[in-house]
Amino acid sequence: MAEKDKDDKPIKTLTAEDIRLLKTYGAGPYSAKIKKLEGDIKDIAKKVNEVSGVKESDTGLAHPSRWDLVSDKQAQQEEHPLQVARCTKIINPNTDDAKYVINIKQIAKFVVGLGDKVAPTDIEEGMRVGVDRTKYQIQIPLPPKIDASVTMMTVEEKPDVTYSDIGGCKEQIDKMREVVELPMLHPEKFVALGIDPPKGVLLYGPPGTGKTLLARAVANRTDACFIRVIGSELVQKYVGEGARMVRELFQMARAKKACIIFFDEVDAIGGARHDDASGDSEVQRTMLEIVNQLDGFDARGNIKVLMATNRPDTLDPALMRPGRLDRKVEFGLPDLESRAQIFKIHTRAMNIERDIRFELLARLCPNSTGADIRSVATEAGMYAIRARRKTVTEKDFLDAVQKVIKGYQKFSATPKYMVYN
Ligand SMILES: Nc1ncnc2c1ncn2[C@@H]1O[C@H](COP(=O)(O)OP(=O)(O)OP(=O)(O)O)[C@@H](O)[C@H]1O
Ligand SMILES: [Mg+2]
Repeated sequence: MAEKDKDDKPIKTLTAEDIRLLKTYGAGPYSAKIKKLEGDIKDIAKKVNEVSGVKESDTGLAHPSRWDLVSDKQAQQEEHPLQVARCTKIINPNTDDAKYVINIKQIAKFVVGLGDKVAPTDIEEGMRVGVDRTKYQIQIPLPPKIDASVTMMTVEEKPDVTYSDIGGCKEQIDKMREVVELPMLHPEKFVALGIDPPKGVLLYGPPGTGKTLLARAVANRTDACFIRVIGSELVQKYVGEGARMVRELFQMARAKKACIIFFDEVDAIGGARHDDASGDSEVQRTMLEIVNQLDGFDARGNIKVLMATNRPDTLDPALMRPGRLDRKVEFGLPDLESRAQIFKIHTRAMNIERDIRFELLARLCPNSTGADIRSVATEAGMYAIRARRKTVTEKDFLDAVQKVIKGYQKFSATPKYMVYN
């Protein structure tokens, strides 16, 4: 009923005046003017942009008034990509009309001159060069082609291990320094005596006795370029790939003034050759390439080779004969004094009780390696954490010795190592 009443009421139509009022309802007194002004500003900004030519400010282009299309075009024409070629021979070297024989792979050989930007002294026979595509003039000398994976092996950041972080091993450190540092610092001594300095060192010994550690300390001390290769990195999928990497490795090393190459875990590639034609022949080829490079048909410059392994008995005798790896440094188990020292080294950074008897602890870990002792120190810290203490006590160390040395005896690699060697 109520609805009907509503319908019956006469509808009052809105006049133009009412509509105008409704439209401005709730708006401020100047809103219409402000709106118009904003529109005007937008229009003017658009015009300004059109005149100055900025349309896409996101592209990062310079202001069009500063564009120099003509010279850009010229520069583009000048700078064609260069082609890589090899300079195989220089005709009339060191004269004004020197000519260069270049070989572009799979295209042809050309006799060409030099570009404007290259000096005749820059180019040597056998070098890789960049040549332009029209006259094939030599434009830039290029560095030798070396695999990126080989370049990556160079240790650029010096490891933070120093000789003082190695406990015991005095003899080993001395032998190592003699081979690595003496020939680099005093080459004249060897010249005066008329002998060649030793070329390489083999580090061997049970796992965890500090072989890799010592090599890292050497890398830290020396100014020479240090290249670290893990044996297994040289084992590649395709035939000849590993040998090529070794060649490029030595090529890179030869280009440096002084260089140390460290092959870690060399048993991965240096295994003795067997008569049966097993699938390992690729690995053996890699090893033979190392032998070949060590012999140095090319003058080897100041390259020292270090190798580390814990299975010296499996290595190929050819690799280890004098003249290749002259020195063999054994890393034995640390003696009592060294063990105490290693304890001190690994607890240096720890928050420990004042007078801990490291000699006693060392006495409690017979036949253990540096790695074992480090593990004892860590474990002692764990005991302290478990007991919610801020300092590590001697009791923690004794418990840790019980756990690590006695408890993990089964896993010790030392007895096995003793049997093999
Ligand atoms: N003489 C030592 N002085 C101090 N710390 C040592 C010593 N020997 C070993 N360590 C500790 O043991 C850890 C392992 O040593 P390292 O990596 O040198 O063993 P490795 O001889 O190369 O063994 P692997 O043959 O298994 O490669 C080192 O990081 C170091 O903390
Ligand atoms: Mg090692």
